[in-house]
Amino acid sequence: MPYIKKDFIERLIDRVDIVDVIGSRLTLKRSGSSYMCCCPFHNEKTPSFSVNQQKQFYNCFGCHKSGNVLGFIMDYDQLSFPEAVEQLAKEAGVPVEYEESSGKTQEKREYDVDFYELLEQAAGYYEAELSRHPEALAYLHGRGLSDDTLRRYHVGFAPESWDFLIKKLAGDNPKILKAMAELGLATQSQQGKIYDTFRNRVMIPIRDKRGRTIAFGGRVLDDSKPKYINSRESPVYKKGHELFNLDSIRNLRDKNLSYIMITEGYMDVIALEQSGIHNAVASLGTATTPEQMNLLFKQSDRIIFCYDGDSAGRNAAWHALNTALPALRDDKQLQFCFLPPEHDPDTLVRTQGAQAMIDYLEHAESLPEYIVSTLEKEYSVADDGSRVNCIDRASELLSMMPEATLTRTAVEKRLANLVGWSQESLHSSIDTAIDNIRARKAVRGAELRESSRKQGGYADPDAIPMTPMRAVVARLVKDPELLRAIPEPDRMVALLNEYARDRSSVLLDLISKIKASPDTTTGAILEKYRESGNVGKLIGLLAARSDTEVEQEGFVEIKIIDLLHFIKNILMEHLTARTQALRIKGHKNGGLDTKDLMEFQYLETRTRELLADRGREG
Ligand code: UTP
Ligand code: MN
Repeated sequence: MPYIKKDFIERLIDRVDIVDVIGSRLTLKRSGSSYMCCCPFHNEKTPSFSVNQQKQFYNCFGCHKSGNVLGFIMDYDQLSFPEAVEQLAKEAGVPVEYEESSGKTQEKREYDVDFYELLEQAAGYYEAELSRHPEALAYLHGRGLSDDTLRRYHVGFAPESWDFLIKKLAGDNPKILKAMAELGLATQSQQGKIYDTFRNRVMIPIRDKRGRTIAFGGRVLDDSKPKYINSRESPVYKKGHELFNLDSIRNLRDKNLSYIMITEGYMDVIALEQSGIHNAVASLGTATTPEQMNLLFKQSDRIIFCYDGDSAGRNAAWHALNTALPALRDDKQLQFCFLPPEHDPDTLVRTQGAQAMIDYLEHAESLPEYIVSTLEKEYSVADDGSRVNCIDRASELLSMMPEATLTRTAVEKRLANLVGWSQESLHSSIDTAIDNIRARKAVRGAELRESSRKQGGYADPDAIPMTPMRAVVARLVKDPELLRAIPEPDRMVALLNEYARDRSSVLLDLISKIKASPDTTTGAILEKYRESGNVGKLIGLLAARSDTEVEQEGFVEIKIIDLLHFIKNILMEHLTARTQALRIKGHKNGGLDTKDLMEFQYLETRTRELLADRGREG
């Protein structure tokens, strides 16, 4: 793929608005100078994800993910950097500008392994292998799957061999072997031997929403364990962001989907598809995440969770409910459908046909129905104590869906009936409970942050050690326009360059970048640091620091004074050190030469100026 022009990327970022881009994916609510919503990158119930229009920057105070519009698209849409640029250009309606092809692009093709290409090839080899294994075909036919369906999903087979796929794809090319290991197609033993991960299994390719193969699920042909193994997460596969069959659903879009059903297994989806029910997806061995809910709500306003009626299914449903509530809004509908304990969607359509499945779906419980009937089962509500517990539990759930007021009213109506209270007193009692829950959560914010970091969250920008220099850099990244307010910036830069270059290299670089494009934003600056390794990371973290006084409007003067103050302190420290060094030199040599003398006088003047400034600042 040809390279995208670097200045095109910068112009593109200038042109788009991060609020539109994120707003087309999440429901943002204005809050002061920013927009807020629940973070799509971690599971939360109260919004800590903030998008700042002026800075063109997003930041989650909970999991600490932050960045500019391209970073967001990469993480949210799960795209590589060039793909994110292409996607953003598409949304902005501008054609991407590529570099003229050069020797460099050729080089890239030769040495870099394309993960998608590799996965596509793997899918091809597995699929071709299926027809050579009557036992696998017999198993699949035995499950009622037709050859058409198998072809439609590119179902394949991984033979009983330690190196079938390795031989096909990599031979002994170490780069490809490494890529296979990274994709989970190959596994390295403790002794260092590499072998095929999937052996003697029916192989189901998992595709992303654009239809590219990103992972595999492999099922044994009998009752042995583990029943399924799935690709591990990789650069192209994040379980919580994908749904099996979402690509087909997206293609169905124009057929006006009145609802989408979520099942537990991909074999269910395949069986449903064959029976003529095309609007099913499956989560991939995890509880449904808010990201997945948002993906689905983009395709349809009504989502029906479909679970086996056994206790495992009931538990999974309750769990799904808890993760889905924050994504709920009044114009969206969630429903719950439970099959008889002995069935899953696959066995149901196979034994009773598609209509039976549709009948169950049509009788799916509404969210208020489901919540209140589950609470009823859990709390006997025979005495005051259990009634209060039940209301507490309900309040907790309702506090998780701040954007669904109609649903809340419906839940309260049913609940009032259940506990025999008036709807008004129940409502106000729930209001109080929700306030308490929110207050408790605010107190627990710090703990939550800590635990999200432990769960592989991002470095906490507030935890990085601050130095005056970092404070200055943070201010300037957050508010690049402050540079304009610095009197005589060139003199300051010259002094820094001369006396504190080691300590201020990042600051100096930042200043030169801001000077090169005066109307820049935080997001645009971050883009310039994308490939700057640790410096880029540091700048990103500093941009995400929660210096609340910097975020407030109307404090410009104070901000400038603080900024100057920091820089002056740094300068003062260095000027003093240099002055001292010259004094010592003079003592030793019985005087200074002309050049040193001139420097000494220069230093004295600058120091006096700085001291005078400081005096004015008080
Ligand atoms: P189920 O055990 O309900 O499987 O697991 P199923 O879809 O009914 O499978 P069949 O009909 O026996 O073939 C549901 C989902 O849980 C994950 C898979 O994603 C599966 O689709 N799972 C299950 C695993 O990852 N590993 C397992 O060993 C079992
Ligand atoms: Mn099944």
